[in-house]
Amino acid sequence: MSQTPSPLPPSLEHASAATSAAESALSQRATGLIHHPYAPPAGFDAVPPGVFKASTVFFANTAELHSREWKDKTGYTYGLHGTPTTFTLEERLATLEGGLQTLLAPSGLSALTLVSQALLKAGDEVLIPDNAYAPNKDFCRVELAQWGITHRVYDPLDPASLTGLIHERTRLVWLEAPGSVTLEFPDLAALIQVLRQHPQVVIALDNTWGAGLAFNPFELGVPAFTDTRGVDISVHALTKYPSGGGDVLMGSVVTRDAALHLRLKLTHMRLGLGVGANDAESLLRGLPSLVLRYQAHDAATRQIAHWLQARPEFSAVLHPALPSSPGHDAWARVARHAGGLVSVVLDAQRHPREKVHAFVDALKLFRIGYSWGGPVSLVMPYGLKGMRQHGALAGASGTLVRFAIGLEDVGDLIGDIEQALTALG
Ligand SMILES: Cc1ncc(COP(=O)(O)O)c(C=O)c1O
Repeated sequence: MSQTPSPLPPSLEHASAATSAAESALSQRATGLIHHPYAPPAGFDAVPPGVFKASTVFFANTAELHSREWKDKTGYTYGLHGTPTTFTLEERLATLEGGLQTLLAPSGLSALTLVSQALLKAGDEVLIPDNAYAPNKDFCRVELAQWGITHRVYDPLDPASLTGLIHERTRLVWLEAPGSVTLEFPDLAALIQVLRQHPQVVIALDNTWGAGLAFNPFELGVPAFTDTRGVDISVHALTKYPSGGGDVLMGSVVTRDAALHLRLKLTHMRLGLGVGANDAESLLRGLPSLVLRYQAHDAATRQIAHWLQARPEFSAVLHPALPSSPGHDAWARVARHAGGLVSVVLDAQRHPREKVHAFVDALKLFRIGYSWGGPVSLVMPYGLKGMRQHGALAGASGTLVRFAIGLEDVGDLIGDIEQALTALG
């Protein structure tokens, strides 16, 4: 047989044989690196739980594909539906809040809005306290309104006023303790007692400040109209104390009722809310030190609140553990701890806005920034005009400055505020 002459010169023919051998090795590697036979030995055990990352999870066969159940956490079907890492975090958070089931959301705000989206439909009404976290109020005012869901703002320090606001369309009532920024502490048991007379109402608490540590949201001493003596849902911006690092955004929704949890869970799934494994891992690292950090924030903030109260510049110091702070008695009835936030009110006549801003700018250790619960102390000024419809600050026009106390030395923080106060003039 005559051989077909090669189109390549002899030197390149050799190179071509080598190239094809390399190519076949390459293709073997490609598959081998993906479908590798090695499996590490089982039984690895260490301080941190393992971190599992997945969108896809495998099924051994179609029977398994059709039989695995994710809703009750007996199996894994897809990253969005849970991994060992997110299941572990969920269980620990349920313990933290005194609940039984947890859902994780990508931020505290998305956890809040998940609850409203899951429980409300066109024609329903939601009640929200005057001092609620402002973006939650905005969600009611703008987004829910677009879907034909109305909202009403109530005075959290006047539980009796709730009676006149509830009707058969009222399906969800938000609580927050204390209120955002102005820190008034409501009588949670009295509010819930009024609401429990309306069985169609679900009670949800933004429990970010309490963090599951200041009080138990599911055991608030409410006389039992039903088998719950507290709220139905506790929402927590894990971004704050549980993270503790100022570097993670996440939220949780904790319940004690399996049917309510499932309702929230199905909406959570349809909305496609997921959290990253690295963020879940950061939270799992933060939880063991949470109690110690919360106690440290609490102790330092009380010390600073007392110091602020003795200063002549402030017309009010707002901190639930101060007897002069609105709702102090209600706080003392349910809580032992008081978190890491304290706000001061500066009267508009004595301290024009520019001077207050000069004071804030003069702070060196306190950094200007939103959020709280991390190691660095933060400060934020708020104009009071139009901020509140109810309570002592309704109609006020001065400036409120909120301090979020970090983990620095208390003496250094007090010294920083003292030196900056000279900028008030
Ligand atoms: C009381 C409260 N709830 C919820 C949130 C929302 O948390 P996130 O920033 O994770 O969305 C915040 C954030 O500041 C908050 O202060």
